[in-house]
Amino acid sequence: MVVHRDFRRQGVGSALLDDCCTLGARWEQPKIYLHVDVANVEAQKFYKKQGYETVRLDPFWFGFTRRYVLRKI
Ligand SMILES: CC(C)(COP(=O)(O)OP(=O)(O)OC[C@H]1O[C@@H](n2cnc3c(N)ncnc32)[C@H](O)[C@@H]1OP(=O)(O)O)[C@@H](O)C(=O)NCCC(=O)NCCS
Repeated sequence: MVVHRDFRRQGVGSALLDDCCTLGARWEQPKIYLHVDVANVEAQKFYKKQGYETVRLDPFWFGFTRRYVLRKI
């Protein structure tokens, strides 16, 4: 997920994430998981603010940077 630099910190990312939860519930998939790069500390703060917690370090990585798996609490 990426919000244009000029529109960050205005609630756009939160609104998009909320809509993902709404769609998940509609599709009877209430558990929401996502990945975030270990080095992306700012995005981790964003996801924590939205109620996500770190589950584990993703064991699968093929040339990507290491990522955490997060889930909605
Ligand atoms: C992460 C990202 C999607 C957040 O989108 P956004 O529209 O700026 O987020 P919001 O305005 O809804 O932020 C809600 C809250 O999250 C937290 N937050 C958001 N960005 C933050 C940052 N850079 N540092 C610390 N906290 C942050 C704040 O608590 C914020 O509330 P506040 O502005 O009232 O303090 C956006 O910064 C982005 O596109 N980043 C680059 C791409 C990226 O890293 N994506 C994630 C890939 S997994």
